[in-house]
Amino acid sequence: MIWYVHNAWAGQVRERMHMTETFDVKLAEKVCRPDPSCRERSWIGDRDTAYRRYLDDPEGFWAAIAGELEWFGPWERVLEWNPPHARWFTGAKLNITHNCLDRHVAGERRNKVALIWQGENEGDEQVYTYRQLHRSVMRFANALKRLGVEKGDTVCIYMPLVPEQIVAILACARIGAVHSIVYGGFGTSALNARIRDAGAKIVITADVGYRRGRRIALKAIVDEAVVNAPSVERIVVLRRSKPEIELYSEMEVDFNEIMEAADPFCRPEAMDAEDPLFILYTSGTTGTPKGIVHTCGGYMVGTYYTTKYVFDLKDNDVYWCTADPGWITGHSYIVYGPLAVGATVLITETVLDYPDPGIWWRIVEDFGVTVLYTAPTAIRMFMKFGEEWPNRSNLESLRILGSVGEPLNPEVFDWYWRVVGRSSCPILDTWWQTETGMHMIATLVGEPMKPGFTGRPIPGVVADVVDREGNPVPPGIGGLLVIREPWPSMMRTVHNNDERYLKYWSTIDGLYTAGDLAVKDEDGYIMILGRSDDIIIVSGHNLGTAEVESALVSHEAVAEAAVIGVPDAVKGQAVKAFVILRLGYEPGEQLKSDLIYHVRMSIGPIAMPSAIEFVQSLPKTRSGKIMRRVLKAQEMGIDPGDISTLEE
Ligand code: PRX
Repeated sequence: MIWYVHNAWAGQVRERMHMTETFDVKLAEKVCRPDPSCRERSWIGDRDTAYRRYLDDPEGFWAAIAGELEWFGPWERVLEWNPPHARWFTGAKLNITHNCLDRHVAGERRNKVALIWQGENEGDEQVYTYRQLHRSVMRFANALKRLGVEKGDTVCIYMPLVPEQIVAILACARIGAVHSIVYGGFGTSALNARIRDAGAKIVITADVGYRRGRRIALKAIVDEAVVNAPSVERIVVLRRSKPEIELYSEMEVDFNEIMEAADPFCRPEAMDAEDPLFILYTSGTTGTPKGIVHTCGGYMVGTYYTTKYVFDLKDNDVYWCTADPGWITGHSYIVYGPLAVGATVLITETVLDYPDPGIWWRIVEDFGVTVLYTAPTAIRMFMKFGEEWPNRSNLESLRILGSVGEPLNPEVFDWYWRVVGRSSCPILDTWWQTETGMHMIATLVGEPMKPGFTGRPIPGVVADVVDREGNPVPPGIGGLLVIREPWPSMMRTVHNNDERYLKYWSTIDGLYTAGDLAVKDEDGYIMILGRSDDIIIVSGHNLGTAEVESALVSHEAVAEAAVIGVPDAVKGQAVKAFVILRLGYEPGEQLKSDLIYHVRMSIGPIAMPSAIEFVQSLPKTRSGKIMRRVLKAQEMGIDPGDISTLEE
């Protein structure tokens, strides 16, 4: 018997969490058992043994992993823990690019393929060996130095998924510049807000990205986004289209020209383990996005560890993570983790249904992909297109499948297991966050898999499901997902806003609250039920309700707006907006389209409302906060729960 977590039901659970401490969840499960031989050959081996090793000596456990990597100077202490602030590998010196590049170039992986890129046109390919990638990164690092970028400066990267994007990322890390990557799907105001908050000195972009045969003019968006961003001194442009666009102002330089003019050798900057490596913005519930800060040492150890021991990457694997480097999944599991273990990483600019829904499966066959890491929203799309597309390609090279970003519903798990994995590949459902930097809860290779459950905390992580006082709840009772112990790749702060960082640890004193609702079963497997706050997850991307609402309200016709997530068969959730118009504006279809377009231009296509309803009033608390759960309850025909704070 399979227990399905329907979105609508999860919504009810979420509403109920506001009224009661905990709630009952009926758990019935189907267990999928992979061939036990894959565990015997895996890096992690027996989970319980590894987990015991961690519990017996947590710092010794992490020190052993860190010892697999190369450091320029030793640490004094593995962990200095002044809750909620942690410092890992204190005093140690390192450069993450030394471990991602030099370490391999000095050894047997020198001529191993590091990156394979495929563009939208099949056959449009680029291949970088570790040696070639190393050389490009060193040159571009020197080019950045010549533009005046110094250790500690912030560089904004707003690029399509091309090898040069990865070169730019690693070049920043090489010289100790802090990168802030902004997903290429974001629009002007979102980019502007991120450039300003981070105080970026340089913006690296491309003239265009390609999407479904169309050109997305990224440079034009940057041009607008740097107005009112006085920190920006230079814009570096990768010119892809022919004839080349002209670079006008003094500020603008060509990516390839500055690279060719630069010296070929660049020594990696010796970074302190606790120096920042990057800022990555994630949606918050209060308007402005949060700049999550990760540091060099702990992040390197966490991403290296999980890439090796969760994905079980071996030297002959061809690894494909379908995310974009603009999200944390791309940072950790396209760039840093896989390159730190010396993997062959496939990247592609293609979307999943262009020129047809067979493209991904042809890529798997063509390149012999062995490990595929993707999101439930993508699998749901493929389910819609039908089995004939994957069935046209030979997928026998695949040996491990991964999932991230949203609950992998049992029906979606089933399809992934059967159609893509030929009922033989372990499916690793990995739960983690921008804030955690690395996988935290996952099904490991060779373990029994329970569709609908992400799995158990991996060795090195102590996670639990608790009530609002922090007491563990018994199996079958829903509660808040928390992490009890610090881990190396935990975020260190929210840029310019440590108060917001402290909030993660103060909802329940001393515990890290992830903002997710969850339930455990008798075996300790954890099922994620959804977010306990106002974040909407569209196709695996976090959107703060407030971010979308402020975009709507910035339109001249809108007086007030509230948005909620509504169940969507493909995207998981879609954005529905309730809008109060200013006097003098009439509701109508044209205005709806205008508003949708307006949100698209301000935040990006992922934030576009799928429906807009014009209303006269919005449910609010007495203190004036919009009660989105009341809108949501109405929308889904469920009990709104406690409405005693409702004003009208
Ligand atoms: O709600 C959880 C969901 O995505 C949130 C984190 O989003 P973000 O920081 O954008 O990072 C996404 C990629 C790591 C979580 O709080 N989430 C992530 N992975 C899973 C998940 N929900 C269920 N199952 C997962 N495997």
